[in-house]
Amino acid sequence: MKKGMSRFMKKRVLTGDRPTGKLHIGHYFGSLKKRVEMQNSGDYDIYILIADVQALTDNFNNPEKVRKNVRELAMDYLACGIDPEKTTIYIQSMIPETAELTVYYSNLVTIARLQRNPTVKTEIAQKKELFGESVTYGFLGYPVSQAADITTFEGELVPTGEDQEPLIEQCREIVRKFNSIYGEVLVEPKIVLSEGKRIKGLDGNEKMGKSLGNAIYLSDSEEEITKKVMSAVTDPNRIKKDDLGNPDICMVAYYHKLFSSKEEIDTVCAECRAGKRGCVACKKQLAKNISEYLKPIREKRKYYEEHPELVDKILKEGTQKARKTAQNTMRKVKEAMKLDYFE
Ligand code: TRP
Ligand code: SF4
Repeated sequence: MKKGMSRFMKKRVLTGDRPTGKLHIGHYFGSLKKRVEMQNSGDYDIYILIADVQALTDNFNNPEKVRKNVRELAMDYLACGIDPEKTTIYIQSMIPETAELTVYYSNLVTIARLQRNPTVKTEIAQKKELFGESVTYGFLGYPVSQAADITTFEGELVPTGEDQEPLIEQCREIVRKFNSIYGEVLVEPKIVLSEGKRIKGLDGNEKMGKSLGNAIYLSDSEEEITKKVMSAVTDPNRIKKDDLGNPDICMVAYYHKLFSSKEEIDTVCAECRAGKRGCVACKKQLAKNISEYLKPIREKRKYYEEHPELVDKILKEGTQKARKTAQNTMRKVKEAMKLDYFE
């Protein structure tokens, strides 16, 4: 096969996460599972970025946190089945081409348009403590840098959550503007909404999150899982075992539906409604099933925790490979922008 041929056969996929914390089962069902499936189908050429530059836009005062979580995130990916032989994992800050593109794109987007971006708007409102009355230039502009992330790699598909939709839309606008001025160079990406479902927290909150303290992490030990499940919100009307219960309003039943077998789920619901099931036993059984489900992930993660040099090697090689792709795009961009002075 001619070098570069596969580029035309496989769709290029670009996605990633901010390295601000370990991943939990919400991330797993929401996006990771799907990424691994896409990878294993063999139909895509996938790049996954660890968005440390973007993480700094609201963690600029906490560089240690970002640095530490780059490796945590990489280990979570690897543990879930992201295979560095098939998928390129890279570190955003080590791709200067993306930073360069961000600068060029900043001419193609107005401040008013950024301020109207619904995702950015919501986040700014949530970050009053960090930003006070006036948001930083970097944070307001992160959609521009995200557009550069995607287009540096000529990403055609971006599998991600609903909350990212306004960011991908903004990227598409920038691409159209660029192409209309400088010529058809950039690829307009499409979002692929991960069909994965959104997992509620142990407390019944719609969102599972670190700051909410209601998450089960992929790296949690069996003891940690058990402890967390024991504190999950159950049907509040049930006090004694023979009180008739309602599994529809119980988080333990909700998780049984994700982690237990069909027969177990049916038994849980029937016994609960009939007042024939103790909540403690019900929780213990759930904790066991979750722990069993996550065991291969946990063990694989442990292996990488014990071999940090391997994780570094994967990140280094992934980034090196990504850099070549980025340089290739940059050459085309600079030529189109008439910045190829001595070529
Ligand atoms: N904004 C994404 C998040 O918070 C992370 C991200 C950065 C990203 N650059 C990207 C996702 C490019 C998809 C494509 O999760
Ligand atoms: Fe929930 Fe199980 Fe208790 Fe029913 S028995 S309320 S499903 S924990």
